[in-house]
Order: sequence, then C-alpha cells, then structure tokens
Amino acid sequence: MLVEHNYPLQAHNSFGISAKATQLVRIHSEADVLAVLADPALRDFPKFVLGGGSNIVLTGDVKALVLKAEIKGMRLAAETEKAWIVEAGAGDNWHELVAWTLQNGWPGLENMALIPGSVGASPVQNIGAYGVELQDRFESLDAIDLRTGQVFTLNHAQCAFGYRDSVFKHGANTGRAETNPMNSGASSHMGLAGRALITRVRFHLPKRWKPVLDYADLERKIQETGITAPSAQQIFDWVCEVRRAKLPDPAVIGNAGSFFKNPTVTPEQCEDIIAREPKLVHYVLDDGRIKLAAGWLIDACGWKGKSVGNAGVYEKQALVLVNRGGRDNPCTGGEVMTLAKAIQTSVYERFGILLEPEPVVV
Ligand code: EPU
Repeated sequence: MLVEHNYPLQAHNSFGISAKATQLVRIHSEADVLAVLADPALRDFPKFVLGGGSNIVLTGDVKALVLKAEIKGMRLAAETEKAWIVEAGAGDNWHELVAWTLQNGWPGLENMALIPGSVGASPVQNIGAYGVELQDRFESLDAIDLRTGQVFTLNHAQCAFGYRDSVFKHGANTGRAETNPMNSGASSHMGLAGRALITRVRFHLPKRWKPVLDYADLERKIQETGITAPSAQQIFDWVCEVRRAKLPDPAVIGNAGSFFKNPTVTPEQCEDIIAREPKLVHYVLDDGRIKLAAGWLIDACGWKGKSVGNAGVYEKQALVLVNRGGRDNPCTGGEVMTLAKAIQTSVYERFGILLEPEPVVV
C-alpha cells in the first residue's frame, strides 16, 4: 500500500482550490481499506473520503488521512422482467455512467446528465437535477466501515435520503436514520458521516421508461424544438445544453455547483414575503410546503458578479460560487466562506431566511 505525503489536491477539487493532503491512500478495493486498518501508523488517524471533489470547499491542508475512492467497474448487475439493475464503482465518473447506460439502451438517468463528480459521492448528497433525484433511481449500495473493516449493504430506506441529504451527511449523534444502517433492526439514531467508504452503487432503471419533462427548462426545449415525445437520448442532449448554458464547466471555471440548498418555508411565511417581494420565485411541494429559489433570493440582493478576493458569484447563476483566479491564482477556501457568509447575511436581512450551504466544508 502506497501512502503519498503532501499530496496536492488542486486537481482533485472542482473549485481548483490549492491545498495538500498530509497523507493520501488510493483505494482500489475493499482490501486496500483493510490494509489501512491493519497498519498501526494509519489506522487511528481520522479519515476523509475523497470522491470527485465536486462538492467540497477546502479551507486548508487536510490533516486527516485522505482515502481517494478509485474503485471502478460499470456492469449490468441483474435484469428482471421489470427493470435493469446497473452497478458502478465509487470511482467511476457520474456523467460517464449516465452516457454508458443510455448507449446500452437502459434509460432513466438522463435528467442527471453532466452533474460533476463520482458515482460514490452521488448518494451522499442525493444528487438531483431537472426533476429527478438519485433516490428515484437508487437500488442499493455497498460500503465498508472505516473503523472495523466490516463490509455492508444499504437499501433505499437505510440511506435515509432527503433533499441533497442522506445518512452519510450526518454524524453519529445527529443521524436522521431511524435504525442503525450497519446493523438493520437495531434501534439507534446513527449517521455515517466520516465512518464509511462507499464502494459500489446500484441503480434501478425500470424497463417501462417514462420521460420526466415537467421542469421549466425542459418544457422550454419542447416548445423550441416542437419535439413533444423526446427519447431519453434527446433529454440527455437537452439537459447537457441547458447545463452548459447556465452552469460553469468546472474544467474551465472552478466551482462546486449550487452553493446553497433551496430553502423551504410554510405557506404563511411565503405569503408574508410575497407581500413585500411580489416577484418571489416559489414552488408548492407535494407536502404543502413552499420551496424558494435560493438563486433568485441571492440575485435579488444584487450578488451576481460580486467577489471576495478571487471567489465570486457566477454572472449567469447566482447560486453558484466560482473561482475567478483559475489554476495560477486560485481563490482560497477562506474567501469562498467569507463570500458565502456575506451572502447569507444579506439574504437573511432582506428575506428573513438563512440559506444552508450545500458543499461539505473541509
Ligand atoms: N434564478 C434567478 N437568478 C439566478 C438563479 C436562478 O432568478 O441567479 C431563478 C431562475 O430564473 C428560476 C429559479 O431561480 O426561476 C430556479 O433556478 P434554476 O432552474 O436554475 O435551478 P436552481 O433551483 O437554481 C436546482 C439545483 C441544481 C439543478 C437545477 C436543475 C439545488 C440547490 N440546485 O438549481 O443542482 O441542476 O435545480 O434541476 O437544488 C447542484 O445541486 O449543485 C445543482 C447544480
């Protein structure tokens, strides 16, 4: 097992922030995790699992032992009368998985095309776009306990998915899961943040495919093209076009996607805000609560194009914070967080809403 010291992470976080990992080990299989746990010099270190690095803000060098999840392997794991079950390794690239499933004639992931990052990170924050979330296509995942080396499988319920949320985002005392996911049946409130490394994820792609087209950007594409019954490949192409037009490509301008979650409020709170802000963008959810567009709130406070040092607010989508300094003079994590806090303060002062950051701050 090779331990890499002072490993540069700039190419491994989509913001392009310059930071180092004091120690980094590449994980290609469960055996690599077991080797780390068997090594007296490594086993007691706090551990940080790094996937595609597309949802993190590095605020300094990482002192924890970085486990870089590089397990690969996309395959059709099972086929039933009703569905294809597709499996991918944690280290596979998310967008490549989406493209590969479509090439094989297994539709279902097309609305989530071009989301940056790795397959292993996709359940952690329950990625989603254009009307489909990972949890809508999720079958199960395999993971390994970073303290004991125990390999375990979690089903849909055990992942406790929520909006950009799962059991993997909660610590041992703050978990939302009703049962201990690693010991199903036992009753405890236990999260898995920092405790597990996801190795493989399986997706449930129903053979009776139904396009999901009720997102405004896709409805606009239908109007523009006159294609009312698009194929999955057509939806994939539309989603790629919409994302390329609205969202910065991390390979060109560093960013971590949406920086804040879209907040939800009660209908009463929403009416109260609309009385003062008639143009408020809002959507009624199935449970009656109201989702507000965080991008609109930030935009309304005049943040588009503003900067703190080399961290800025993207000109075309106020929900995305970007690295304006590129590779040579990148923003720091501190600049990103100062900007984020200033945005939170101004949105709170105007709308009375505290925006919650989406990326993991390291
Ligand atoms: N808006 C503005 N100004 C802005 C940005 C947005 O007025 O600067 C308005 C838009 O006009 C629109 C509304 O806000 O009426 C919503 O904007 P958009 O459709 O672009 O989507 P979003 O809510 O900002 C969410 C996800 C994205 C996902 C898109 C498409 C979150 C936090 N973000 O963005 O996910 O791609 O919908 O489904 O839920 C991510 O999580 O990293 C991400 C990119």
